[in-house]
Amino acid sequence: MKTMHEVEIKNMLRMAKEARQRSYAPYSHFHVGACLKAVSGAYYQGCNIENAAFTPTNCAERTAMFKAVYEGEREFEALAIIWDGEDYASPCGVCRQVLAEFCAPGLPVICANKEGDYKIVTLGELLPAAFTKKDMA
Ligand code: THU
Repeated sequence: MKTMHEVEIKNMLRMAKEARQRSYAPYSHFHVGACLKAVSGAYYQGCNIENAAFTPTNCAERTAMFKAVYEGEREFEALAIIWDGEDYASPCGVCRQVLAEFCAPGLPVICANKEGDYKIVTLGELLPAAFTKKDMA
């Protein structure tokens, strides 16, 4: 994993926190924000967007990723997530798979709890042996 500078970590966490304020979570009341940095240098913020039918709910990480991909981004440098929980944020299985489509296993994932305390893990640690396009070669 590429080492991240403290200033960049704080900056991404600030943007993830800002994104959390836009969360639409009338059912779970659990607010999540994400900030994804592309290799281009652009940042993409995302929040969770819930639905009355529950299953169409989109997580914050996927909102950020889909916004970025729509804008033409295909390579990413880092991801930050912050949520309302006491424990460090941890992307769901679906988000891990979506991240693995575009991000290398070394992608640093900054996982923050509601206080903003964080730990950094890699995507490879979150989803070892990911199924990707290389498996269909
Ligand atoms: N959620 C996220 O946005 N990201 C995660 O990594 C885990 C869960 C959202 C989905 C739902 O709106 C709420 O948190 C409770 O599951």
